[in-house]
Amino acid sequence: MQRLEIKGGKKISGIINISGSKNATLPILASTILTDKKVLITNVPIVKDVETMVDLLQAMGSNIKFDKKNKKVLIKNKKKLSTFASYSMLKTMRAGVLVLGPLLAKYGFAKVSLPGGCAIGSRPINLHLDALKKMGANIKIKDGYIIASAKKGLSGCSIKFKKISVGATENILIAACFAKGLTKLSNCALEPEIQDLITFLKKLGCRIKWKKKRNLEIYGMQNLKSALHKVIFDRIEAGTYIIASALTNGVLKIKNIDTSIMSAEINLLKKSGVKIVNKKNYVLVSCKKKLKSLNIVTKPYPGFPTDLQAQIMVLMTKAQGVSEIKENIFENRFMHVSELRRMGAHIDIKGNTEKILGKRQLNGAELMETDLRASVSLVLAGLVASNKTILNRVYHLDRGYEKIEKKLTNCGAQIKRLK
Ligand code: UD1
Repeated sequence: MQRLEIKGGKKISGIINISGSKNATLPILASTILTDKKVLITNVPIVKDVETMVDLLQAMGSNIKFDKKNKKVLIKNKKKLSTFASYSMLKTMRAGVLVLGPLLAKYGFAKVSLPGGCAIGSRPINLHLDALKKMGANIKIKDGYIIASAKKGLSGCSIKFKKISVGATENILIAACFAKGLTKLSNCALEPEIQDLITFLKKLGCRIKWKKKRNLEIYGMQNLKSALHKVIFDRIEAGTYIIASALTNGVLKIKNIDTSIMSAEINLLKKSGVKIVNKKNYVLVSCKKKLKSLNIVTKPYPGFPTDLQAQIMVLMTKAQGVSEIKENIFENRFMHVSELRRMGAHIDIKGNTEKILGKRQLNGAELMETDLRASVSLVLAGLVASNKTILNRVYHLDRGYEKIEKKLTNCGAQIKRLK
């Protein structure tokens, strides 16, 4: 199993290009089930989750090609796809469940594995299933599979999500594009990746309108067009590298980023003392001041993202005073805490709130990665730790960070992959 070896203490300075967003690419790829016309997606990140989604669509018979050299995915679906998504495909990537809505909407049937358990919480899919039932689907769970049918197709209706969910909003939005009549969705997630999905779906010809803040109206239609789409940048990758640079007192130019959709995280980082300046073609990050402690609450967009919680916690181990982070989205997203403690961090957890004592010297150790964002937080910790850090189970990191060791090594880090 591959491992990473990091020798800490080097500044992260130089230039980093941010890749396309994994979390935008995955629903966009799932939504291509709806169309038989040619689709070209560019700026696709080369990460394992995207490869898994491409493999899943290929296994279903999609004529999909991932040109990794040019970061493009080309899809030309001519024949009917299989409506089966196996456990072997969904066990490593929960977003595979996003094929459920489009399969059911297009073919009136789908057998999709329930996604496997997850280290960060129970992550149910009740909101997805309740909404599809409301649209006319008959759903049974058997032998670990969702068996869904809608013989006459899905029908538009009004759905209010009981909780804000990124995945449920995406799954039902995509299904509604192909359903009969008008679907009104309320209490939708507003993440920029959803906006990007909507931009793509509109290029296919789908009729989607934002009404009030969290309300969407979708007029279903069955004749979709071909489309060319460039995936939005990955705001979580960008936030991670801003923190890497600030932690190590580096000076970093970050390209392919738009800070206007990252206000919550940029404002908090600035409040802590990180200097983030928008230049013409890049954002310049530096950190000369002593870092101040923060009080952070993770929330659905436009709030502070749960996907940056673990990374900012590492930054707070270096700040003056005690910081507080309240994790409001997932009930068990603290897997990184025990590993950070082994490196010398002082972190208390009470319920869903963590208190982080600042100005701690982190020391290198051999660590176990547990989930994607926890893993990258340990990389960040390794960058500022004294001595050597060894990270096991690097596959978690490879699910969502494109060429992470190359990007960091180019900026001065000492990281190597041990095979
Ligand atoms: C997506 C992102 C993930 C991010 C998360 C929250 C992708 C591929 N993944 O995950 O990186 O951390 O949004 O921003 O885009 N919930 C239910 N029932 C449901 C669905 C969700 O109770 O049917 C709960 C979840 O357990 C969680 C909360 O709703 O507590 C938010 O989850 P959700 O927004 O659905 O996360 P994902 O779409 O899985």
